[in-house]
Amino acid sequence: MKGEPAKDHATLMDQVYRHQRYIYDFTRKYYLFGRDRLIRELALRPGDRVVEVGCGTARNLIRIAERYPQTRLFGVDASHEMLKTAAEAVRRAGLEAQIRLAHGYAEDLSPAMFGEHEAFDACLFSYSLSMIPQWKQALKQATTVLSPNGRIHVVDFGDLTGLGRAGRAVLLAWLGLFHVAPRAELLHALEHNASTSLRLLPGRYAFLLTGDKTLSF
Ligand SMILES: C[S@@+](CC[C@H](N)C(=O)[O-])C[C@H]1O[C@@H](n2cnc3c(N)ncnc32)[C@H](O)[C@@H]1O
Repeated sequence: MKGEPAKDHATLMDQVYRHQRYIYDFTRKYYLFGRDRLIRELALRPGDRVVEVGCGTARNLIRIAERYPQTRLFGVDASHEMLKTAAEAVRRAGLEAQIRLAHGYAEDLSPAMFGEHEAFDACLFSYSLSMIPQWKQALKQATTVLSPNGRIHVVDFGDLTGLGRAGRAVLLAWLGLFHVAPRAELLHALEHNASTSLRLLPGRYAFLLTGDKTLSF
């Protein structure tokens, strides 16, 4: 995402997170379900290069570093505010040598954001696709920066249809306050795509997806 739209989006994300970033990790553990399951299922090998797109406070990257100490981790985010919290958390955890952070947009993802050119072995989207305006472009871009056996891992809100009409409406309205829009279109396309592995959480609240370079939707 280049030019004015990118600047506008970064400003919007900074508005959302300027104050939220202080309570983000504490509050989100009550409703961003499936993140630790995604981390457990990554099955990374020593030396793997992993990028989280929309890394927020670096909560996931720090957990990945603890579970898979011999990996190289990268985080990109559109919000300078979130990146301030992320940088501080990485520093406090003593993980500056393993985790690198950069400001940028999912739609333009590239190893060059980190001054490198080697492809990534895993690309993670944890509750970020539902905030990325051009989420289809972001997924396509991720397939271009993966190594030949690389994997894309997604966890995000589902279509919420198992929550009942009122429950779904309330949750959608609340998420809307944070500019979050579940990508039901993606979930429905994936349900008809045998080449990806898709897992749904109860109530179709969230889904986990693992795909490869051929991911299409
Ligand atoms: C709901 S938070 C998720 C943070 C983290 N992945 C987690 O699981 O806790 C979504 C993050 O995506 C970032 N984001 C939104 N649009 C983006 C874009 N176009 N490119 C990169 N990051 C983006 C936001 O700034 C925010 O930090």
